[in-house]
Amino acid sequence: MDLFNFRFIFLFLSAVGCCNGQDAPLISGQISGVFGKNVTFSTTVKDNEIGNFLTISWVYQKTNSPVVTSAPGGVIVGPGYDGRVFLNTSNGVLNIGPLTSKDSGTYTLNMVTNTAVTRTGSIMLTVLDPVSGVTITSNMNAAVEFNSTVVLTCSALGSALTYQWINGTAPVVADGTHVTISNSTVLTVANVYRNDLVGPIYCTASNLEQAISAPFNLTVSYGPELISMTVNPGPGAQVKGSNVTFSCSAQSSPPATLMWILNGVLLPTTGPVLMLANIAEAQSGNYSCMAYNPKTLRYLASTTASITVIAAISGTNVTGLTTPLIAGNSTGNLTCRAAVGIADTTLWLKDDVPLNPSSRVVFSPDKSSVIINPLQKGDSGTYKCMLSNAISSDSVIFRMNISFGPEEVVVEGKHAIHEQDSITLKCHSLSHPPAAYAWKFNGTQIAVVAAENTITAATFQNTGIYTCVASNAVTGKTISVDHMLSVKKLGEPTDEPEGLTGGQVAGIIIGVVIALVLIVAVVMYMRQKKPIESPY
Ligand SMILES: *[C@@H]1O[C@H](CO)[C@@H](O)[C@H](O)[C@H]1NC(C)=O
Ligand SMILES: *[C@@H]1O[C@H](CO)[C@@H](O)[C@H](O)[C@H]1NC(C)=O
Ligand SMILES: *[C@@H]1O[C@H](CO)[C@@H](O)[C@H](O)[C@H]1NC(C)=O
Ligand SMILES: *[C@@H]1O[C@H](CO)[C@@H](O)[C@H](O)[C@H]1NC(C)=O
Ligand SMILES: *[C@@H]1O[C@H](CO)[C@@H](O)[C@H](O)[C@H]1NC(C)=O
Ligand SMILES: *[C@@H]1O[C@H](CO)[C@@H](O)[C@H](O)[C@H]1NC(C)=O
Ligand SMILES: *[C@@H]1O[C@H](CO)[C@@H](O)[C@H](O)[C@H]1NC(C)=O
Ligand SMILES: *[C@@H]1O[C@H](CO)[C@@H](O)[C@H](O)[C@H]1NC(C)=O
Ligand SMILES: *[C@@H]1O[C@H](CO)[C@@H](O)[C@H](O)[C@H]1NC(C)=O
Ligand SMILES: *[C@@H]1O[C@H](CO)[C@@H](O)[C@H](O)[C@H]1NC(C)=O
Ligand SMILES: *[C@@H]1O[C@H](CO)[C@@H](O)[C@H](O)[C@H]1NC(C)=O
Ligand SMILES: *[C@@H]1O[C@H](CO)[C@@H](O)[C@H](O)[C@H]1NC(C)=O
Repeated sequence: MDLFNFRFIFLFLSAVGCCNGQDAPLISGQISGVFGKNVTFSTTVKDNEIGNFLTISWVYQKTNSPVVTSAPGGVIVGPGYDGRVFLNTSNGVLNIGPLTSKDSGTYTLNMVTNTAVTRTGSIMLTVLDPVSGVTITSNMNAAVEFNSTVVLTCSALGSALTYQWINGTAPVVADGTHVTISNSTVLTVANVYRNDLVGPIYCTASNLEQAISAPFNLTVSYGPELISMTVNPGPGAQVKGSNVTFSCSAQSSPPATLMWILNGVLLPTTGPVLMLANIAEAQSGNYSCMAYNPKTLRYLASTTASITVIAAISGTNVTGLTTPLIAGNSTGNLTCRAAVGIADTTLWLKDDVPLNPSSRVVFSPDKSSVIINPLQKGDSGTYKCMLSNAISSDSVIFRMNISFGPEEVVVEGKHAIHEQDSITLKCHSLSHPPAAYAWKFNGTQIAVVAAENTITAATFQNTGIYTCVASNAVTGKTISVDHMLSVKKLGEPTDEPEGLTGGQVAGIIIGVVIALVLIVAVVMYMRQKKPIESPY
């Protein structure tokens, strides 16, 4: 019965409101508030209606408890709402707070106008748990570039949360393949790149409020890559005993372990510098470095640098200089060698001019020795053997003395002299070493053993054949040359013009005659050819 009456009144009032155009609900719908914060229930009361209301009452439906009531006698705050509500008696707007979870539920508003029209409305309040504890969790603690798929999950406490991912300052852009976001809480970065997670990455969770996670930080290991090795000095030929330093670097996170390889074999040294002090020939070879990242388990090798350790050439010496070397009889067999070091090229010079091969001068294929056969006197001179390799050169100078002669033995002196004249017969020869001289008179050895044979105050007894005997003990060669000398009586002609022999005088005379004849002939010829001047 009561129920029926109530319904009847309600329907009646609704009908009145309808007809006055005032039955629009004062309030309807849902609203959210955050635990500990205030919420405001607005009303649809228009400005021109303000002050038209006699009573305003807000009731919490679940327990049917009055929240606040305004009547002409004043405002009465319901039990449990002391200090937590504020009612604007002009328009019925209610502010409640701080909210507790018990405040969730439906509230109804009942306002009676001066004209005894009752208007109602209701609103459902949801008190949300505040956002807190926004955290990002990762499926891994350490990632490997290109290899790891990082799955980040955002979690938070609070009700009706929505999530967002932030990269630095802007929202994360999901491309659906490399970066995907699912269920808004899960950010998946497939085959992560080194810079993907340096953002830093944040997650926000919000309802009416928003909270942000701590910056998320994940180390993405990468590399090694861009490996580079340098050699100082080098690469190439290096002087034995010098120091060679290799340096290696690679981009890697964490820093790569750097190893060294010689001819494909790992050396015991590790680290960015390989220092080879006092390098030896056996250390020649192909060097490279290799970087290893213990996190990515990746290796990377540098290009190789080839090092050839060469000893500097020293102690160059020529062998085969036997003495004596006799022109026309000896063979020169000279060999040039270094006490230390190996030569790539050998150069022979004679008197600073390259020694050229010929039918007499034959080099061995590596030019380390030269055979001169037979030796000639012109082969005497200063020789130089130069040995060189990629890093050094050395040379030795030696003299080669060829023994020869005597040859071109000549006796200088008059053939006729007068009694009491003095005469010196001089014997010359080409010889190395210089020839020893001896003289014979009419075939008999005489006491003179010098190049000059002097006769003072000649007598007729001195007429005869003087023989110069030139000999070279080294070559074993002896040459004899005769010289005829006549000693004449005073006044008797010696048939020998001063200075010039008969033949020489005759030659000069013949020459002069021929020259004169030629000049005369040329002059005559020129005259004949002289053009005759024309009478016209
Ligand atoms: C919340 O409402 C209470 C009671 O109406 C009021 O005292 C307080 O100042 C309000 N706080 C805020 C932040 O509005
Ligand atoms: C009550 O509401 C009216 C109309 O919106 C406003 O003018 C007035 O300032 C409010 N009063 C208080 C105390 O907030
Ligand atoms: C989506 O995320 C919520 C937590 O925000 C979780 O309870 C739910 O299981 C997730 N759904 C899927 C499909 O992962
Ligand atoms: C974050 O931003 C940086 C720089 O723009 C970008 O390289 C990186 O890929 C981004 N990360 C994600 C997960 O989108
Ligand atoms: C990332 O972590 C490292 C050490 O783990 C720290 O030094 C760095 O500041 C962190 N970066 C961010 C953006 O949190
Ligand atoms: C080579 O290095 C050693 C030390 O390792 C040093 O004593 C020596 O002087 C260096 N030699 C040269 C030529 O630099
Ligand atoms: C070094 O490398 C070159 C070419 O790469 C090769 O010809 C040579 O035999 C190598 N040397 C050694 C000692 O392995
Ligand atoms: C990279 O991924 C492959 C399979 O995709 C795995 O076998 C390998 O162990 C991974 N490397 C690292 C360093 O995690
Ligand atoms: C050259 O070798 C010879 C013997 O073959 C030796 O007597 C001489 O001392 C050496 N000279 C040098 C400079 O080594
Ligand atoms: C030249 O001398 C070397 C050694 O000194 C010898 O081996 C070589 O056979 C000699 N050559 C000739 C043509 O005698
Ligand atoms: C030497 O020989 C010449 C002619 O052959 C001769 O005339 C001369 O008498 C000789 N002298 C002596 C001292 O025998
Ligand atoms: C010249 O060579 C020949 C053989 O070739 C030899 O019998 C002679 O003794 C040599 N002469 C000298 C002076 O060495």
